[in-house]
Amino acid sequence: MSASGAAERSERPSRTAAVIPAAGRGVRLGPGTPKALRALGGVPMLVHAVRAMAGSRAVSLVVVVAPADGATEVRHLLDEYLQPGSTDVVVVPGGATRQESVRLGLAALPEDITTVLVHDAARPLVPVDTVDAVVAAVRDGAPAVVPGLPLADTVKQVDPRTGDRAGEPEPVTGTPERALLRAVQTPQGFDRATLAEAHAKIALEGEGATDDAGMVERLGVEVVVVPGHEEAFKVTRPLDLVLAEAVLARRRATDGF
Ligand code: CTP
Ligand code: MG
Repeated sequence: MSASGAAERSERPSRTAAVIPAAGRGVRLGPGTPKALRALGGVPMLVHAVRAMAGSRAVSLVVVVAPADGATEVRHLLDEYLQPGSTDVVVVPGGATRQESVRLGLAALPEDITTVLVHDAARPLVPVDTVDAVVAAVRDGAPAVVPGLPLADTVKQVDPRTGDRAGEPEPVTGTPERALLRAVQTPQGFDRATLAEAHAKIALEGEGATDDAGMVERLGVEVVVVPGHEEAFKVTRPLDLVLAEAVLARRRATDGF
């Protein structure tokens, strides 16, 4: 942080923004509409995700990173579904990888944002308490915070068989101790300057980073895990849509909304 930044810190209020990468196609979900625009309970998945972020009183701005050729459509969709409220929603076009999309979202943040959440559009049902817990941990001084849960399955490390050899038995090379592992979710929360530095310095090959906290780890900055929530699961494969519809049905039954 610059000298003037340090001097301003004490009097400057901490404003929090959420960046929602929503520019993926959703290949694993199968052909059709881009994943973030698919309906869940009759409402596009992205709308659920924006509501989840805007539902936290800490979040004053949401930046939605739309498919590069779909920013106008996404803007119209959000205007149709969202009630005008205290949270501004900005839409920017995304990139070819998640990492690139997040970078484009960060570039759209105004100067006065000091805390940033990065939240997958594909995690539409994250409860507001989880969002608030992540924000609180960042405001308490952690530069990088991820919600995570213990694993149900034991995990094996393997020598992968891909391409022509896909489906062949894969030799096991290790079994990490399950109690030491966490499956991480979003929103991941960051001190803005730390996340910006990670995105400026860390370039990953191929698919790019699928996890922003991993980029911050590569800077040598400490990342902490706070308790996640089972409803913050990522909609990735068709069965996840079935689960998401069931969660919504249960919420409707219990809150009558
Ligand atoms: N994402 C993005 N830009 C990309 C790729 C992904 O903004 N170029 C977003 C997705 O829209 C999603 C989040 O990153 O909200 C997590 O990615 P993932 O679950 O992998 O979604 P997709 O990439 O859309 O799905 P798939 O990998 O099955 O194609
Ligand atoms: Mg993907």
